[in-house]
Amino acid sequence: MAEDAGARVVAPGAEETERAAEAALRPKRLEDFVGQQVVRGQLSVVLRAALSRGATPDHVLLSGPPGLGKTTLAMIIAAEVDGALRLTSGPAIQHAGDLAAILSSLEEGDVLFIDEIHRLARTAEEMLYLAMEDYRVDVIVGKGPGATSIPLALPPFTVVGATTRAGLLPAPLRDRFGFTGHLEYYGPEELGRIINRSARLLGVSVDEAAAAELARRSRGTPRIANRLLRRVQDWAQVHGTPGRLDIEAARGALEVFEVDDLGLDRLDRSVLEALCTRFAGAPVGLTTLAVSVGEEPETIETVAEPYLFREGLIVRTPRGRQATAAAFAHLGLAAPEDGALFT
Ligand SMILES: Nc1ncnc2c1ncn2[C@@H]1O[C@H](COP(=O)(O)OP(=O)(O)O)[C@@H](O)[C@H]1O
Ligand SMILES: [Mg+2]
Repeated sequence: MAEDAGARVVAPGAEETERAAEAALRPKRLEDFVGQQVVRGQLSVVLRAALSRGATPDHVLLSGPPGLGKTTLAMIIAAEVDGALRLTSGPAIQHAGDLAAILSSLEEGDVLFIDEIHRLARTAEEMLYLAMEDYRVDVIVGKGPGATSIPLALPPFTVVGATTRAGLLPAPLRDRFGFTGHLEYYGPEELGRIINRSARLLGVSVDEAAAAELARRSRGTPRIANRLLRRVQDWAQVHGTPGRLDIEAARGALEVFEVDDLGLDRLDRSVLEALCTRFAGAPVGLTTLAVSVGEEPETIETVAEPYLFREGLIVRTPRGRQATAAAFAHLGLAAPEDGALFT
């Protein structure tokens, strides 16, 4: 899943609209960032300490499923320390040379945001952790046998890495981060606050029941909450009540856009349906499951599964993923009776 990577082929218009909409709703300062109390508190200490020392803050790693606020926090970090934000991503750096070019152009106090850092090329990874530790990069000049490497000293800067897969980062790279924040799914109360904040920014009124319904059906994810809010705005627009988002509009939009009662979307449901019907509740390996729903294993693992695990709809067993009785119940299916099922 190439979130924010720029490597994906999509309708350019749709992607840009989506990005602009997200940018407009992003909190700019730490105090506007809703929820994630633990990470927010820790980050606040790290940043305030660095500021009062007059030093650049330690490197920060942010991990967690898509849409929980990693990019937003990276931008907030730069804003809080008044550093220029430089953005790149693992997939955008194909060769160590690409990274050398970025590193050698950094200025003191810059915040270098590397999205999907687990997808960096190996050679770039090594260059990065040397740069993070020693503030030094070896620039290769020339080609072939005559090439020489010239060490270049870098000014102090801060790397903010984001990943949906912290476990995939090699230990030496992980160890260079002075602080790692793990973002968790948001609770309905926090999502309700995010929805109300976004509604204010969009200039629409959302009533309490509608906000609660959206919060409950947003998969614990602010990005999804904001998207649903905009779809409800659309629904109200075409049903003659523009700007008035009530429970009828919320339910109407959720139905049109196929968000079910638990907030599961089409991908979530196709994973559950495969596990419950095609594989009849038996454990299934990730690759087989991915082929069966026609998606990349990484998408299944980072986008769909974390939430399904959290909701107790699937479990991980030594022999693979398995649907629980709750999954069968959610799909309105009778669970198999051979006792093999997890409950
Ligand atoms: N804690 C939060 N408070 C308010 N809005 C948030 C919060 N976290 C995320 N968002 C919103 O959700 C959207 C997605 O967040 P983003 O930082 O891009 O997620 P990630 O990089 O983890 O995929 C952004 O538009 C942002 O406005
Ligand atoms: Mg992001």
